[in-house]
Amino acid sequence: MRNKPIGVMDSGVGGLTVVSELWRQLPREAVLFYGDSVRCPYGDRSDDEIRRFTFKALDFLYEQGVKMLVIACNTATAVCLEEAKERYDVPVIGVIGPGARAAIAATEVQKVGVIGTRATIKSNSYPKALHLTHRGINVVSLACPGFVELVEKGPIQMDEALPIVATSLQDLKGSGIDTLILGCTHYPHLAKVIAAVLGNGVRLINSAEETARDVSHWLTEHAMTRVGLDVPEHIFYTSGDAIRFRTIGEAWLGKSIDVQFFDVWSEPGEPTKEWSCALR
Ligand code: DGL
Repeated sequence: MRNKPIGVMDSGVGGLTVVSELWRQLPREAVLFYGDSVRCPYGDRSDDEIRRFTFKALDFLYEQGVKMLVIACNTATAVCLEEAKERYDVPVIGVIGPGARAAIAATEVQKVGVIGTRATIKSNSYPKALHLTHRGINVVSLACPGFVELVEKGPIQMDEALPIVATSLQDLKGSGIDTLILGCTHYPHLAKVIAAVLGNGVRLINSAEETARDVSHWLTEHAMTRVGLDVPEHIFYTSGDAIRFRTIGEAWLGKSIDVQFFDVWSEPGEPTKEWSCALR
């Protein structure tokens, strides 16, 4: 069991920020990744849709035999984490708790901002997680529709992204926060742009880093780290355009990866892409 891969899912390429951290912190672990790019963004969808898509992706990873599931998507974590913990007999780790803890450790003024998709912000999951650890902390939440699409398009162009990000974050300027949680796994790719808008006084929290730390702690504590000296094999699946996914993935992860098109809604012999698009 301990040599099985870690299953990681996201609505698209955002979860690769978690993979990159897993590789950095746990270089001997194998990763099985599923990015549901054809249905991305999840953040503007109903809870019911988010639940259906997330569990289909998690079931797919689980059925292939993984030792742990990581929901590398804040939106899916907000809507599905508790249910997922009940559903599978392997540990399930989300991205919200780890990000909230890191923000509490970082803030000096006890005032933290959270940006995320509409669904994540509407769920109130970050304020709940923050208040669970620190009742008195002040939280300013802001939904940033449009950011995910910017990231899914590929390499960020500062001149294209800056006006969009500046307009969205207007309400955070002068809000008094000293720490901002990037409450969407796509957002670390906009970190430079966000920092340019908010300035040096606001520390950005990348929940991917903290999530990988949680994975590492759990595997170590439960003697579930991979053993052996062979190089781990990583497999990437996307329901979207595999070439685009590979281009983005290689740029972010810094090494060549194989990506296979696979849609969890397809049946053997079905014309996968068309069929999956019909379900959107
Ligand atoms: N990466 C996902 C998250 O962390 C969301 C993107 C989406 O809206 O699909 O929330």
